[in-house]
Parts: sequence; structure tokens; C-alpha cells
Amino acid sequence: MEVIIVNDYEQLSQRACDIIVEQVHMNPESVLGLATGGTPLGTYRELVQANGNGKIDFTHVSTLNLDEYIGLDSSHPQSYRQFMKRELFDAINISETRTHIPDGRPDDLEEECRRYEALIEAIGPPDLQLLGIGENGHIGFNEPGSDMDGETHIVELTESTRAANARFFDKDEDVPAHAITMGIRSILKSKRILLLASGERKARAIKRLLQGEKDVNFPASALLAHPHVTLVMDQAAYGMKGETDAG
Ligand code: F6R
Repeated sequence: MEVIIVNDYEQLSQRACDIIVEQVHMNPESVLGLATGGTPLGTYRELVQANGNGKIDFTHVSTLNLDEYIGLDSSHPQSYRQFMKRELFDAINISETRTHIPDGRPDDLEEECRRYEALIEAIGPPDLQLLGIGENGHIGFNEPGSDMDGETHIVELTESTRAANARFFDKDEDVPAHAITMGIRSILKSKRILLLASGERKARAIKRLLQGEKDVNFPASALLAHPHVTLVMDQAAYGMKGETDAG
């Protein structure tokens, strides 16, 4: 695992953007695996700026998001589809038809899991998968105890994950209880993984990861088996004193 420690969230976002720009220069038809949550927001801001300055062209790029809440229509403001539109897609030159996110309100949940996994095979796997990490070590919405060899599936979110995500909703009880997520096996299919961690809230999970703790109750440890992971974190996530946080 390549480990990069930067001073703060701003530098983390810049470095992550540079890695993505480099990837798309190398292969303009790159498939990018994308994440939601607070951590990648700065990266998306930097990418919007880089696209505006002509440093990256998304015309031939395709994207595959990790996950979506179950029960939220794709037009719901808190759906991950709307999150991605607001934070990235609507501000860059990518065609919506090239952006893929699981459907949170399909007629048949199991069928949607199969469809999404087949899509990963058909257009992917991602050349570069952007990942955040949960305080409990979750990746995507693969919570502790998840099948370390699972593909796209439905999960029940833990109380701690729902509490962490409540900041994006008006009321705590509005946070959905279930999500559809790429499985750990689906994530590991990516050619390269770019894992981002910011803020002291992530320090414990990062410490466990760097100690090489392989444990089904710590899903991020599955990344230890991947040949090309780049971890970019700020000093606070590394457990050093730092002021910034992804929010
Ligand atoms: C989001 C996702 C999650 C987040 C994780 C960290 O698509 O899959 O695993 O990456 O919950 O969230 P933040 O970045 O908000 O701390």
C-alpha cells in the first residue's frame, strides 16, 4: 500500500484530484469508481475547477458509484444520484448516460444487485476506485461482519453509520435503514484504489488498517489484499495533530 500523508484536507483534496487527472490523461476512456460522503467533496471541487481550466476532459470517462440508499428515488435530494449531480456531474463535461449509480427504488432489489454487478463487468472494472472509510472501517456500505467476498448486495446500515450520515438529513429518522452497495469483492476488482481519510475521527480506523489487522469485523482490511492501493490522508487522520476535517 502506498501511503501519502499531507498536512490538511485541502492538500488531500488537491492530491486526490491530481491522481485522478493523471489517470484520465493516461487513459481518456477511464472508468472511475466514485464515492459520496464528506471526504471526496474537496476532490470533486478540485476536479470541477480542473475541468473548467481544461486540465481534465470527462467526455470519454465513465463512472460507477459505490452505493445508493434504499427507498430514495433518484430525484430525492438526499439520494446519492442527486449528491453526485450537485457535487460533480452537473459541473463537468460528462454525459449523464456515462454515469452509473445503483437504483435505490427498483421493482426487484435482487435483480438490481445482479444488474449492477453485470454493469461493473461490462463497462468496468474501474481503472481507479475512489474510497472513503467509515469510522468502523466500512468501505462502500460493507459494514463490519460483511461477507469479505461479496458482490453488489443489500445491507442494513449500522446505527453508527446512520448517525454519521444524519448530518445530511433534516431529521435523524429520515436516514434510510438500508442501502445497496458494491460488495468487497466488487470493489477489489478495481485496478487501482484511491483511499482517502481526513480528520481525527478516522484516526482509529487508519491505525487499525496500517497495523495490518485482517478481520471480517474490519472491512477495510480487505484492501490489504489488493495490489495497488494508494492511501492519501491528512495528519489528523494519521493521528498527528491537525486542524482540518472533511466535515
Ligand atoms: C460513500 C461510502 C461510504 C463513505 C464512508 C465515509 O459512498 O461508500 O463508505 O465513504 O462512510 O464517509 P465520510 O466521507 O462522510 O466520512
